[in-house]
Amino acid sequence: MHINPERSSRPDYPLLERQVESVLEGERNLMANAAQFSALVYDTLADLNWAGFYFTVPARKGEGKDLLVGAFQGKPACARIPFGRGVCGTAAAERKTIVVPDVHAFPGHIACDSASNSEIVIPLVKDGEVVGVFDIDSPQLNRFSDEDREGLERMLAAFMDGTDFS
Ligand code: SME
Repeated sequence: MHINPERSSRPDYPLLERQVESVLEGERNLMANAAQFSALVYDTLADLNWAGFYFTVPARKGEGKDLLVGAFQGKPACARIPFGRGVCGTAAAERKTIVVPDVHAFPGHIACDSASNSEIVIPLVKDGEVVGVFDIDSPQLNRFSDEDREGLERMLAAFMDGTDFS
């Protein structure tokens, strides 16, 4: 299988979508597929310093839900983020992709790596429930375009189709 030899800031997203299907083919395990997916993204897109999953778990205290870190590439990150907090928790609570051109201007942004300047967080929705998010950080301001958002959303749809969540 062919993986792009050089990281690209304008990747061929239709090709990447096929690469997701190819990398995950024959395996539906969540931990394995999440690790493979984050490695593919981190190895293919230019100018990233973090890429990975947070998965929905019950909050430790009281009611509500948290996001717990899953497979990722980059520096160690915050382990647990309550729904509604930070960029990740906001994307999960609002069930929509959030693109942040400058994280320092996002109220409540959680700084896990001081190198991060822009971020995109895409919620993972399965049977009407937010089961997690995929988070990508970049040291470059305004790194993520509409083309990136649409391409990454399609790659994650392929990830969801190829993975069991039960
Ligand atoms: N910046 C995120 C926290 C996760 S790290 O970037 C890996 C946020 O504000 O939710």
